[in-house]
Amino acid sequence: MVSDLILGIESSCDDTSVGVVGRDGQVLSNIISSQAELHSVYGGVYPQLASREHLRAVLPTVELAMKAADVSHADLKAIAVTRGPGLIGSLIVGVDTARALARGWGLPIIGVNHLRGHVRSADLEETRVEYPAMILLVSGGHTLLAHMTSPRSIELLGSTRDDSVGEAYDKTARLLGKGYPGGPIVDKMAASGSARFDLPRPMVNNGLDFSFSGLKTAVRMLVERSEQLDQDDVAASFVDAVLDVLTSKVSRALELRKSSSLIVVGGVAASPPLRERMAAVCAEHQVRLCLPPVKWATDNGAMIALAAWDYVDNHVGADLSPKANLGLAA
Ligand code: KG4
Ligand code: ZN
Repeated sequence: MVSDLILGIESSCDDTSVGVVGRDGQVLSNIISSQAELHSVYGGVYPQLASREHLRAVLPTVELAMKAADVSHADLKAIAVTRGPGLIGSLIVGVDTARALARGWGLPIIGVNHLRGHVRSADLEETRVEYPAMILLVSGGHTLLAHMTSPRSIELLGSTRDDSVGEAYDKTARLLGKGYPGGPIVDKMAASGSARFDLPRPMVNNGLDFSFSGLKTAVRMLVERSEQLDQDDVAASFVDAVLDVLTSKVSRALELRKSSSLIVVGGVAASPPLRERMAAVCAEHQVRLCLPPVKWATDNGAMIALAAWDYVDNHVGADLSPKANLGLAA
């Protein structure tokens, strides 16, 4: 029996997820109640609908996670909850639920930065990361590069100035008349297409920041120019442009900061071609690639629970105020 357990609640975007996790990343349970189908018709997350669904799903998801882990509240050390960044209405549902449970069960509560959760997802189920480590975080809400000398010491090196990679994937899917989330759909189309269209690689040779809105506009112009285009070729050209940018930025970052590992996390880290390209970059730089299993790439409660231990170890107080915008350092 794992004794030090934290229950993590994640509700920052469109998935309600609750996990029960031990100090070393042992996952006793992780339940996800997905809203993807609900938002699919809108081509993206509809915020009001998201908070209403979280409200409906959160307590049953907590119950299922406790049952699956075969634990009672007496076995828990604390409750962790995402306090931001994310959709404010969705965050409030998670934080209020965590507050009520912590009060009822007499447990401490820890407000966790969602980005820190993604970063720590690389050590779920087994310890993979060797420090110092470079991190590429690519999700629906964020795209950033950071360097870590320990789980508690993170230096932001670059982030997106406009759209995230996930957003660019989702918008490309929408332009091609497909559903949400766009990432898996576009990747699948790209696998049967050829990257024959010349799309821009924004800011590819310019520092460590990213920009993807120009690429999205270029896809839109390409699609509007002709209806006869092979959609798979458009998807393949888009994926190729994204991967060229990510590969080049990661290579530059690895040249700038000594790193033993490269951690690739966030929803887009589920992408098979991205995983392949990052493996090649790591081989070239002789760096260990830390890719969590695909199931830990997208939002989950387990990563929030694991990240909470860093707050405990660092004696960080329980700031619970939900925040739509929250940087990696907060
Ligand atoms: O981390 P995540 O679940 O939520 C946020 O914190 O944003 O990331 C969701 C994003 C979506 O934009 C989705 O299209 C993208 O991750 N995604 C993928 C894949 N699976 C999910 N992108 C590329 N390839 C995939 N296989
Ligand atoms: Zn996320």
